[in-house]
Amino acid sequence: MPLLQNHIAVITGSGSGIGRAIALGYAREGAQVVLLDVNEKAAAEATREIRDAGGKAESFALDVTKREDCIAVAKRIADKVGRVSILVNNAGINRRNAFTADAEAVLKDWQDIMAINLNGTFNVTHAFLAPLRASKGRIVNIGSIQSFVHVRTPNSPAYTASKHGVLGFTKALAAELGKDGVRVNAIGPGLIETPLNASVRATNPELVKIFIDHTPLGRAGKPEDIVGPALFLASDLSSYVTGSIVMADGGYRTI
Ligand SMILES: NC(=O)c1ccc[n+]([C@@H]2O[C@H](COP(=O)([O-])OP(=O)(O)OC[C@H]3O[C@@H](n4cnc5c(N)ncnc54)[C@H](O)[C@@H]3O)[C@@H](O)[C@H]2O)c1
Repeated sequence: MPLLQNHIAVITGSGSGIGRAIALGYAREGAQVVLLDVNEKAAAEATREIRDAGGKAESFALDVTKREDCIAVAKRIADKVGRVSILVNNAGINRRNAFTADAEAVLKDWQDIMAINLNGTFNVTHAFLAPLRASKGRIVNIGSIQSFVHVRTPNSPAYTASKHGVLGFTKALAAELGKDGVRVNAIGPGLIETPLNASVRATNPELVKIFIDHTPLGRAGKPEDIVGPALFLASDLSSYVTGSIVMADGGYRTI
């Protein structure tokens, strides 16, 4: 039997990169997937690809920073699709201004990154809490190496703070929702080749080299490298796993 048969899975930021790969992977394993993205067109295209391959998918426009919209979309999904049993909080952004850079840029980074990466995770999780509790559901949050460390390659402190927050939120919810049978875990990707970092990879190969030199597997990851951990954490394969983070970083954090 497919791993996610009879599940309805919502994935935020699933028009691109890691979220898109997870949506395709979940659909291949039998889930009915619901793609949410501020980029409505990208989510609709991914949805079409899943349907063309014989999978079940719907898409809705959603900006995860807008709490009322999150509540409204959760209601629409309950009415139109059904009871959500898997939530992947994946929508996220990164910028590379150091804290000592231009003050306005630093402030804007802090506000935007926190609004999407951390508050967005709160907004969406809160909006889907009722169906997740009713279904003894699973929540998978996308953390990072920066849930633990600030990487040596230049990066913004806001991103590091947001991803530490995502891991803390994961642990807190795991502790609180365990009694309801809801499991809450995170994935910690390393450098994954997606549009998020395309311009850095194109313009700053030295930076990529620093990263890869620190990665035991000696390569950057692909979005598909995150699909296995995401399937594991959403399926019964991880039935006794909660409050954990699965690192999918080529070993970066171990050395
Ligand atoms: N790529 C990496 O190296 C890497 C490493 C560690 C963690 N991550 C995390 O993985 C997640 C996905 O990143 P990615 O690399 O696939 O990036 P990506 O840019 O390819 O995809 C991110 C998606 O999120 C959507 N999005 C952005 N703001 C949104 C909002 N306000 N509301 C709804 N959707 C929004 C975008 O439209 C896009 O489709 C992020 O949380 C990121 O922090 C990425």
